[in-house]
Amino acid sequence: MYKLIKKDGKARRGEFTTVHGTVQTPAFMNVATAGAIKGGISSYDLKNLKCQVELCNTYHLHLRPGDTLIREMGGLHRFIGWAGPILTDSGGFQVFSLAQLRKIKEEGVTFQSHIDGRKIFMGPEESMRIQSNLGSTIAMAFDECVENPAPYEYSKKSCDRTERWLYRCKDEMTRLNALHDTINPNQMLFGINQGCVYEDLRVQHMESIVKLDLDGYAIGGLAVGEPAVDMYRIISTVEPYMPADKPRYLMGVGTPVNIIEAVSRGVDLFDCVMPSRNARHGHMFTFNGIVNIINAKYTNDERPIAEDCDCPVCKNHSRAYIRHLFKANEMLGMRLAVMHNLYFYNTLMERIREAIEEGTFEQFKERYVPILDKRCK
Ligand code: GUN
Ligand code: ZN
Repeated sequence: MYKLIKKDGKARRGEFTTVHGTVQTPAFMNVATAGAIKGGISSYDLKNLKCQVELCNTYHLHLRPGDTLIREMGGLHRFIGWAGPILTDSGGFQVFSLAQLRKIKEEGVTFQSHIDGRKIFMGPEESMRIQSNLGSTIAMAFDECVENPAPYEYSKKSCDRTERWLYRCKDEMTRLNALHDTINPNQMLFGINQGCVYEDLRVQHMESIVKLDLDGYAIGGLAVGEPAVDMYRIISTVEPYMPADKPRYLMGVGTPVNIIEAVSRGVDLFDCVMPSRNARHGHMFTFNGIVNIINAKYTNDERPIAEDCDCPVCKNHSRAYIRHLFKANEMLGMRLAVMHNLYFYNTLMERIREAIEEGTFEQFKERYVPILDKRCK
């Protein structure tokens, strides 16, 4: 259930209540693809990093260790040791970005596993059954994320099929939630808007999927190579058609600036591999801009990564030490870097929430948009 607490322009401060706890929105969902945040971060580390929601992937967990095993182990929450909300992506996006030799038909997608080459079929029903075995808090609809640029005619055909898939997802989810031995009988289903960069397709598709009265709505098919201005234009175009009493999720986005821009257009939820992936390359986010910790100028810098940061890493370690760990290929270097970046993203969301509550989000945006994605001076 989504409760709107305060609006500042289009930016929304809300509370999204699930059976696994309440999420303060806008929120960032921390990506744990195969049940772990890359960089050696455990679920109990996340509790010290202001994480509210973990995001795991149907595709990866189905291939390895298998969703039936996770079901036997009591479901995903117990398996990964995280009692808070978990959102699972449907496999739609990963099948298209990772799998080989895929063939799309009305029934679903046949593809080869990127792990062992095994041939696998996944359609809307399979995706729902896997996510039901995982017992995640929120299941995502099985969709096709078309690449960018995609021709109009193909985008339309794909969008229509994604819509037919959504009906099948909803029916299957309703059936699964009613079974007596379902891991999470309250599993929620979010629909995903597609339509590439074509405004008429996006609006038509959004209007149709809103009729299904799902638990939330996502904007998919963005941040796939199109310029940021196109992404912002699509968000602004579809937002008026999204229900005000449901959470809105922009999938796979993005940089701190992308997130601020999307919040200012009415988005509540985000996920992105950027904080963990960039950390693994020594690229640290701070409220003064980006710090590349591997840079020689930090060799004897006693300051923390960010002087205004309260994360466990900045409270205990210097830039010089973390740089040394990277140079010496010590695993701890990456782990500390990922911890700081996740804390930064979760703190960014906290500051966004505070600014909306105070009615100062526009000033917040003006202050941070020019600096957050740039190198720290
Ligand atoms: N992650 C990022 N974009 C997408 C999308 O369009 N669909 C799905 N299922 N996941 C995504
Ligand atoms: Zn820090």
